[in-house]
Amino acid sequence: MTESLDKNKIPAHIAIIMDGNRRWAKKNRKLKNIGHREGMLRLREIVEECGYLGVQMLTVYAFSTENWGREQEEVNYLINLMLEFSETMIEPLHEAGVKINVLGDISAFPEKSKNGILKSLDITKNNKNLVLNIALNYGSRQEITHALKEIVKDCKQGQLDLEDINETLISQYLYSKNQKDPDLLIRTSGEQRLSNFMLFQLAYTEFYFTEVLWPDFKAQDLHQAIIAYQNRNRRFGKE
Ligand code: FPP
Repeated sequence: MTESLDKNKIPAHIAIIMDGNRRWAKKNRKLKNIGHREGMLRLREIVEECGYLGVQMLTVYAFSTENWGREQEEVNYLINLMLEFSETMIEPLHEAGVKINVLGDISAFPEKSKNGILKSLDITKNNKNLVLNIALNYGSRQEITHALKEIVKDCKQGQLDLEDINETLISQYLYSKNQKDPDLLIRTSGEQRLSNFMLFQLAYTEFYFTEVLWPDFKAQDLHQAIIAYQNRNRRFGKE
């Protein structure tokens, strides 16, 4: 018998490393960009399902600082896909009460994509049902380095004292400031590593790895991940 989901123990914050788009394309004899497009379609479905289940925050790793190292054509495709996602999804997401947020530095993106993404943030900024964090041009080491520089700057300017620096303060200098840490991290496609994703925020997060490639990841797979999470015993280092 398959175990069922406990609707009263839904993780408040789920983070996903959406991996395996290109392997999916290869397996299905399609161009790699088709894999990314399928990945975008799956993201739509998973956001919808998270809203339905009562997840409060979903953070997805869409474009890492390392992804600039891919072929120019693939990089352009991915960036255009972000724009397409924000343009085509804005209405249904807005209606569903989803607030879109970006983690990362999108200043390096072309003007048109940047403006499109910023517009979707602005339109959805007062929504309260589900926060969708899209990690774009995101790297955790870069995020921590940036935070450190800002902290030192504020110390030098006399706005902060050395004694003020603690874990809570550091978290306030990260892109995820004022957000609860993820309860559950899912990585698809069989890889078991963090790839420079939320190194500070994932300290006590439960990890779930699945062989399913991201473009094949359906609501049912999300349920399986949540059921696995519900069977974990979270101690946060205590007892
Ligand atoms: C990893 O698979 C995936 C990415 C680098 C891009 C993730 C992007 C999407 C899912 C597209 C939709 C997202 C938005 C926000 C529009 P991979 O390319 O590394 O595949 P591989 O591991 O099989 O090589």
